[in-house]
Amino acid sequence: MEIIDKISKLKREQNAVILAHNYQRPEVQDIADYVGDSLGLSIAASKTKAKVIIFCGVHFMAETAAIISPDKTVLMPDFNAGCPMADMIDVPELQKLKAEHPGRPVVCYVNSSAAIKAESDICCTSANAINVVKSLAEKEIIFIPDKFLGMFVQSRLPDKKLILFNGYCPTHARILPEHIAKAKAAHPGAPVLVHPECRPETIAAADAALSTEGMVEYVKKSPAPVFLIGTETDMLYRLGKENPGKKFYPVTDLAVCPNMKATTLEKVLWSLEDGKTEVSVPAEIAAKARSAIEKMLMYGRE
Ligand code: 13P
Ligand code: SF4
Repeated sequence: MEIIDKISKLKREQNAVILAHNYQRPEVQDIADYVGDSLGLSIAASKTKAKVIIFCGVHFMAETAAIISPDKTVLMPDFNAGCPMADMIDVPELQKLKAEHPGRPVVCYVNSSAAIKAESDICCTSANAINVVKSLAEKEIIFIPDKFLGMFVQSRLPDKKLILFNGYCPTHARILPEHIAKAKAAHPGAPVLVHPECRPETIAAADAALSTEGMVEYVKKSPAPVFLIGTETDMLYRLGKENPGKKFYPVTDLAVCPNMKATTLEKVLWSLEDGKTEVSVPAEIAAKARSAIEKMLMYGRE
C-alpha cells in the first residue's frame, strides 16, 4: 500500500488529525488536515474533535497543543525537532530578568518552552504580538525571548518600553538587506514580505513584516503578480499552491530551518503505527502555561 494511503487509513482508525506548520516539507503539508502559522495551529489544536493530534512542526508548537488540549494525545513524528530560539532562554535567566525589573509583566513569544510560559503573564505569536503588548496597561514590559520581534513591536508601539532578551531565530537572522536589494533588482516592483523575526534593517527594507499566515492573506488580497518572500523557504510551497497565477521567489535560499525539515512522510506513518512520540507536560507547569496561552488566544490577528 502507498505510504499516503496507509497514513489515511491509520488516521481514520485512530481518530487522528494531522496539523502542519507552513515551513513543513511540501509532501507533509499535502497530507495535513490543517496547515498554518503558530496562532492558527494553536486554535486548530484547541478546537479539534480528534483524539490524537499528529503535530508536524517543532517541539514548542506540539507542547502548546498538549497544554491547551490536555484530553488529547499529541504525537511528534520527530521528537528532536526543536527551535533553537526557544532554547536560548532558561527559567533562571527569566527569573533574573524579572528580579531586575520587578512588577513588569512578561510577554512571552510562543517560541518558548512550557516552563518559560509558566513563568510569564501572557503569550503572543508573530500574528498578534502588537495587539497583546498594546492590551497591557503597564508602559514597561518584559518581552522574551526574540529580540528582533521585540524590536519590531517596539517600533510600532513607541509609547511602550520593551525590556528585551538576547534571543533570535538563526534562520531569519540570515536574511539580510543586501539579499533584498539583489532580489528587487532581479524582480523590480515585486512586494517584499518578510517575517518579524528578521533583523530590523531587513524589515526596514521590506514592504511588510507578517506572520506566515499573514503572508498568505496579503498575497490573496494583493493584485501583484510576483512576490519576494523573506522567511523559511518552504513557505513558498503553500503560497504557490494556493495562488497558481502568481510567482514567488525567496529573498535568499539561506533561510532554511533544519528542525522544520526533520519531519518526513515516513516518520508521520511510524508515529501513527507506534503511537510515538507523545508530548506531555508536568501538570503544575501545564496549568500555569495554559493560563498564559489562553490569554493570548483572546487576541486576534493584526
Ligand atoms: P509563524 O507563527 O509566523 O508561523 O512563525 C513561527 C516560526 O517559528 C517562525 O520562525
Ligand atoms: Fe525556531 Fe526559527 Fe525554526 Fe521558527 S524558523 S522554528 S523560530 S529556528
